[in-house]
Amino acid sequence: MATNVNAEALKESPIPDAIEKHAASKQTVDPYNVQGEVGEDGVVKAIDYNKLIEEFGTKKIDQALLDRLERVTGKKPHRFLRRGIVFSHRDLELILDRYEKGEPFYLYTGRGPSSDSVHVGHTIPFEFTKWLQDTFDVPLVIMMTDDEKYLFSDKRTIEEVEGYCSNNAKDIIAVGFDPNKTFIFSDFQYMGGAFYKNVVRLSKHITLNQARAIFGFNDSTNIGRIHFGSIQGASSWASSFPHIFGEDESKTVAIPCLIPCAIDQDPYFRMTRDVSARLKYKNSNISYAKPALIHSRFLDALQGPGTKMSASVDESAIFMRDTPNQIKNKINKYAFSGGKVTVEEHREKGGDTNVDVAYQYLRFFLEDDEELEKIRVAYESGEMLTGDLKAICIKELQTYVAAFQERRAKVDDEAVKLFMTTRPLKWNGNPRAPVV
Ligand code: TRP
Repeated sequence: MATNVNAEALKESPIPDAIEKHAASKQTVDPYNVQGEVGEDGVVKAIDYNKLIEEFGTKKIDQALLDRLERVTGKKPHRFLRRGIVFSHRDLELILDRYEKGEPFYLYTGRGPSSDSVHVGHTIPFEFTKWLQDTFDVPLVIMMTDDEKYLFSDKRTIEEVEGYCSNNAKDIIAVGFDPNKTFIFSDFQYMGGAFYKNVVRLSKHITLNQARAIFGFNDSTNIGRIHFGSIQGASSWASSFPHIFGEDESKTVAIPCLIPCAIDQDPYFRMTRDVSARLKYKNSNISYAKPALIHSRFLDALQGPGTKMSASVDESAIFMRDTPNQIKNKINKYAFSGGKVTVEEHREKGGDTNVDVAYQYLRFFLEDDEELEKIRVAYESGEMLTGDLKAICIKELQTYVAAFQERRAKVDDEAVKLFMTTRPLKWNGNPRAPVV
């Protein structure tokens, strides 16, 4: 679906000066670049998520899997699952098998503290992770990749990313995680001991050739970037967290994690899964557990499909610190409309919900399935006009952001200290009692 977005203007790179840019014309999704295909007219197309499933070799989350998830957990799947926003996975079935049998697993996710400007798109994987934590009642580790955000930028200083790290940790805590079950850690602070052993274990099994093939590095890439994947990957192994899972590695190597993440992070974990399969604990026949994954799509920029919200482009995103008025103005002014040019034409032909940003945001944020369906039918039939649709979207986003701001205001330095202290966790899910 084409939109009027200029490819260059909106090319969001989470790392502004990432050196490894791919050809601009092809769809590009990797940890450093996310962009839809650019047509001959220079217009960015929507990201083709089915193509990603094929290229990456992941599995689509289908209705049968959703039914099983509901059966096993006794909970209605989260709206992101019901609507294909969380759309793909690796080995989710194996995690459900373990959940049914009462065998341990944990959740692992992370955030690169690249700025203080957290937008609604950033909160999506965390909202979903909270739902997984509430549903499965298992430990959760959250990696803050301060090292990554230093290595992948020519501008940011270490002191800058340290500041972003503690502010971003507050934003994450404000999503509502349970401190009894959640360990947030900064790579700079937590590196060492069992974690560092796993980092080195992983890096020993990745050649330069493999890293180049997976991430597109070249001869001018600094070696910190080349090594970074072993850091992000090493948290997929429970033995990196002896304070949570115990010191006995013969047990912890077999505990897998489930990683909720945006699809661009998949390359790190594809690499980790390959190494896990090859690694044996102390030359025994006990294998390292492969991480399982559950992938979400991106929230489109206000300008429309094909790009994601950018923390550095104010008009592209709704930020978690935006006021109700700012939200209203941004949606009214910038949100790409799938409506027709004149009211007469719109009444006659109806709007296109596939490209309409206000409608797409409602798919992410409006909980009620029936209400969403009513809106879709009314807009597509031309009964509902763009202005009315935008008004509904504005109200939902204002509510979502205000609720976040209220929780965020209560998160202080003490809370950050609590979540980030290396300590045992307490949970009631699998196994029923903590393993420590
Ligand atoms: N690289 C991620 C980012 O830039 C941060 C991250 C680390 C992460 N570990 C993760 C994200 C695990 C998802 C899952 O934001």
